[in-house]
Amino acid sequence: MAEIGKDIALAQSFLKNGQLVGIPTETVYGLAGNALNPESVALIFETKNRPSFDPLILHTSSLNRVEDFVMDFPERLKKLADSFWPGPLTLLLPRKPIVPDLVTSGLERVAVRVPKHPLTLTLLESLDFPLAAPSANPFGYISPTTPAHVEAQLGDKIPYILDGGACEVGLESTIVGLEGDDVVIYRLGGLDISEIEKQIGPIKVKDHSSSNPSAPGQLESHYAPRKPFLLGDLEKLISEKKEERALFGVLSFSKHFPGVENQFILSEKASLQEAAKNLFAAMRSLDQSNAEIILAELMPETGLGRAINDRLRRAAVK
Ligand code: TXA
Ligand code: MG
Repeated sequence: MAEIGKDIALAQSFLKNGQLVGIPTETVYGLAGNALNPESVALIFETKNRPSFDPLILHTSSLNRVEDFVMDFPERLKKLADSFWPGPLTLLLPRKPIVPDLVTSGLERVAVRVPKHPLTLTLLESLDFPLAAPSANPFGYISPTTPAHVEAQLGDKIPYILDGGACEVGLESTIVGLEGDDVVIYRLGGLDISEIEKQIGPIKVKDHSSSNPSAPGQLESHYAPRKPFLLGDLEKLISEKKEERALFGVLSFSKHFPGVENQFILSEKASLQEAAKNLFAAMRSLDQSNAEIILAELMPETGLGRAINDRLRRAAVK
């Protein structure tokens, strides 16, 4: 089992040695390795059981350091970095040859972000290489938002998890890039896209496609619990399942349903921020409960509600 602690020097020594460490960020926990060492990067793919066509995000401690890894930083994207880094924003930028092929799966752009977590920022500052870090879950499963989530699934494969508590945002970063003159969103995430539009005007959200993902965050079945996950009107779903005498659990936005045993309310005060923060832990708990089916409802389709709904819809794809 992995050791869990707050020892930055220890985390640093494992990483320098080519090993992997679970790291906290404001979005979800990452499975981090030296991004410039192809062997560490290969170990990330192996540990997560992730297909090598699904590229990784490079994490660094400041905007200045990003220049070491990218050929060009277009003004509009730099403006976003200035406004939102450190924070839940990932930018796709043309990579320099120093970035290994394995990190980008051979693509010309590299995904980069500066995460907002004091422990991880200190760790990144202390290292002379950036960290490649996908979410610290087995490929296709729900992303981890606590050290215990990481331990439960990858604990036997990594030596150390840096304990930064529960993640503040709870959803993966929003991924943004340019296509010609258009600013394009490749993955809805923890940074509300209306915040991005306030800075740089209208943007495009790319349709999801499972057959030809340009960001495999767009793979349809992703973030998925193992149990059947039904999305719809909870009132109706609950009465149907009661009639069938099914063992079900419920994931609601703010409403309480009397008499339901396995029930998670994402935010009693109907806050989308709070719902985002609680989403993945609630999905995991329901997946591990004695419920055989999970029933859930969509959030209002505004602000972070769009990104939450994106994850809920993918969880419902089997
Ligand atoms: O919040 C986050 O972004 C978390 C934390 C740990 O930083 N990381 C994360 O990584 O969610 P991961 O690997 O689970 O998801 C990264 C997504 C993948 O879907 C990948 O396809 C996309 O980023 N991506 C990475 N590099 C890309 C590239 N060069 N072009 C297009 N998509 C890319
Ligand atoms: Mg992931």
